[in-house]
Amino acid sequence: MTTPPSVLLGVAGGIAAYKSAELLRRLTETGHSVRVLPTASALEFVGAATFEALSGHPVHTGVFADVPSVPHVKLGQQADLVVVAPATADLMARAAHGRADDLLTAALLTARCPVLFAPAMHTEMWEHPATRANVALLRERGVVVLEPASGRLTGRDTGPGRLPDPAEIAELARLLLERPDALPRDLAGRRVVVSAGGTREALDPVRFLGNRSSGRQGYALARVAAQRGAHVTLVAAHTADLAAPASVDVVRAGSALELREAVLAAVKGADAVVMAAAVADFRPVALAEHKIKKGSADPDPLALTTNPDILAELVREREPGQLVVGFAAETGDASGDVLHHARAKLARKGCDLLVVNAVGEGKAFETPDNAGWLLGADGSESVLAPGSKALLASRVWDAVAPRLS
Ligand code: CTP
Repeated sequence: MTTPPSVLLGVAGGIAAYKSAELLRRLTETGHSVRVLPTASALEFVGAATFEALSGHPVHTGVFADVPSVPHVKLGQQADLVVVAPATADLMARAAHGRADDLLTAALLTARCPVLFAPAMHTEMWEHPATRANVALLRERGVVVLEPASGRLTGRDTGPGRLPDPAEIAELARLLLERPDALPRDLAGRRVVVSAGGTREALDPVRFLGNRSSGRQGYALARVAAQRGAHVTLVAAHTADLAAPASVDVVRAGSALELREAVLAAVKGADAVVMAAAVADFRPVALAEHKIKKGSADPDPLALTTNPDILAELVREREPGQLVVGFAAETGDASGDVLHHARAKLARKGCDLLVVNAVGEGKAFETPDNAGWLLGADGSESVLAPGSKALLASRVWDAVAPRLS
């Protein structure tokens, strides 16, 4: 039996501390062994009993509790990952300057594993030059400081500074355990567009033709790009119930035609576009105004017409230097295996990179994990090893970043 990854969950004193209980539950339920290190002010928001019950471990805030076990050294040294959520302006200031005035900051100095900070604070505090400098210093030293989400903050104000959704923090925590160097800031200053999910082609007011895409891979691509510093527009068709990625502009599109319009508008001036959406190749010739009744098969309600190939259009119309990445979901058949069909698709579509997934038998669709190959128009071919969809996303951006002009 393998030992579960050991995660230290630091909780600083902000109102978003209540969401750390949800993050803790997600981390323990997905097989992590979690010790919680709240600051004294975090315990003003959430009681120690909550963290102790959900983690199964005692909770201390100071270095003078349980002294014989020297907890600030032991906890830091034994961790595979430290996550601080929420990370307040004060906590980041103390961490950036190497202070060790409580158990959490002391443990941060003894940890040698990846460290992930999920900031949460008011927009003014996030944008203050002192906080910007502390974030820059922490990032320079290899700490992953997430971009916060935008939206409603405590009270009535809105803006960047919301804690990213606990599901998103958990996904990025898993990513750093799979691959500690998955979130470099190599897309800073870049603009990228990602499409995700499956289109739905309406037949009548209640029915549509759809597909099994959950949108998870596209969301992971958008999320990872944003956390690598890019400005991201996510054009989302129908998806499972997914947390909106922090610091990403989300545009909704239902049908293939709507998706085409939204993607073509978003790619103006973009450095790269990744078409992860499962776009319907066909749509009904006509949309019935009223619900189609049994036996009313005249005219044929399933008469179809071809949808435009958005990826081909992106390749044709691309701006100089714009990188176009396609996806291929293949099963292989009597005429060739998955890679045979994928190579032909890359040549046919003319995109710069093609992410290839083998589909069928529980692979790729509706699962949290993925694997495949990455084919380049320059003849390069690499295996995308099995792992989370965020891991695959990080490998795709690894290939995109150096190809950007
Ligand atoms: N795609 C698109 N517009 C369409 C259909 C597909 O932009 N009307 C994009 C998808 O987003 C994906 C790529 O094309 O990036 C490949 O999709 P896929 O369905 O595998 O390819 P098809 O062109 O439909 O080829 P085939 O049906 O022959 O496998």
